[in-house]
Amino acid sequence: MNDLSRLSRRSLLGQGAAIAGLSLAAGRGFSQAAGGPGLAAAWRDAFRIGIAVSNQTLDRQIPGDLELIRREFNSVTAENAMKWGVIRPDGVNWQWERPDRLVDFAAANDMYVLGHTLVWHSQVPQSVFTDAGGAPLRRDALLGRMEEHIGTLVGRYRGRVHAWDVVNEAIDEGMGWRRSPWFNVIGDDYMEQAFRFAHAVDGDARLLYNDYNMHNPGKREFLVGVLRDYLERDVPIHGIGDQAHVGLDYPDMEEWERSIATYAEMGLEVHITELDVDVLPNPNRPSADVSTRVDPAAAANPWPNGLPEEMQEQLADRYEQIFRMFLRYRASIERVTFWGLHDGVSWKNNFPVRGRTNYPLLFDRNLEPKPAHDRLMELAAAEV
Ligand code: GLA
Repeated sequence: MNDLSRLSRRSLLGQGAAIAGLSLAAGRGFSQAAGGPGLAAAWRDAFRIGIAVSNQTLDRQIPGDLELIRREFNSVTAENAMKWGVIRPDGVNWQWERPDRLVDFAAANDMYVLGHTLVWHSQVPQSVFTDAGGAPLRRDALLGRMEEHIGTLVGRYRGRVHAWDVVNEAIDEGMGWRRSPWFNVIGDDYMEQAFRFAHAVDGDARLLYNDYNMHNPGKREFLVGVLRDYLERDVPIHGIGDQAHVGLDYPDMEEWERSIATYAEMGLEVHITELDVDVLPNPNRPSADVSTRVDPAAAANPWPNGLPEEMQEQLADRYEQIFRMFLRYRASIERVTFWGLHDGVSWKNNFPVRGRTNYPLLFDRNLEPKPAHDRLMELAAAEV
């Protein structure tokens, strides 16, 4: 029996059950883990530290991955396993195995679980928006489909998934509501309806709106208007998810802090949901000193064989700067989740350019902590 299914059995049997072969670490609960050596323990008095768990980890139940997650983190998000296109690849039939494993693993280790994500324009089968004959759905039919999806998914994990990214990426920086199929068919109340459906099924779950580039003033201004309206009308929204896919020199820290301060002042929970720090040159942001004599391919992927020490330091400095800012809002920040366990599995190796070697996370390709990890441990020891 592999590690995760052992944990599932263990969670079924209850905390006291002894199962031959179960490692000591696998049986560690949150209270003990929090006394352990990892990030979550170091930061526990400020906020939770979470991790996105990949399908690969869930499918292969890689023991090294699971051990690292238990040692360092006290919150988990499914990187892909709960998205509509993955949990219902044909649009209709459910694939529960991966999310069940994740939720069982979290329960066995007293971790806070994020459901990601219920309504999104991406990673959703196009058939969700059409009827059996391929004709586009009308508003009521699509709302019904949304309600059924949310009801089944939130209902299955009621009390075990603690917070949901109810709607992901609904706002376009320049133009307010993104013109997604959800918006185009249902109208601008689709987001509010999604929150109401989720709340009706699990009244205790924390419900979040999640997006990227939350530092962007246009996005902030539009979202603040939506949130004020929701709070006035008792639409059940409890917080915002700030994805925080950032880089060494972006976003502008003042703008980012202004956004976090604004949501905190509104009394909302702030969740940092998908943190990573891109260290590679961004082709969409040409640097002023790009030399025409440099081979563009080499310039775009400068460190295929390892990150130089000087860059490790820059990354550690950047993480320290970011976490110092988070500490100023510790009363409102519920958790900080990293988007991937180690550099080798980060989506940033393939975005915005495919096939590069990136180093955005705290653990290297051998699952060893990087200087940025140690810096955050030191910062916690000094400031938390
Ligand atoms: C967005 C989504 C995540 C993930 C990343 C890219 O941020 O919310 O689920 O797909 O893009 O990995």
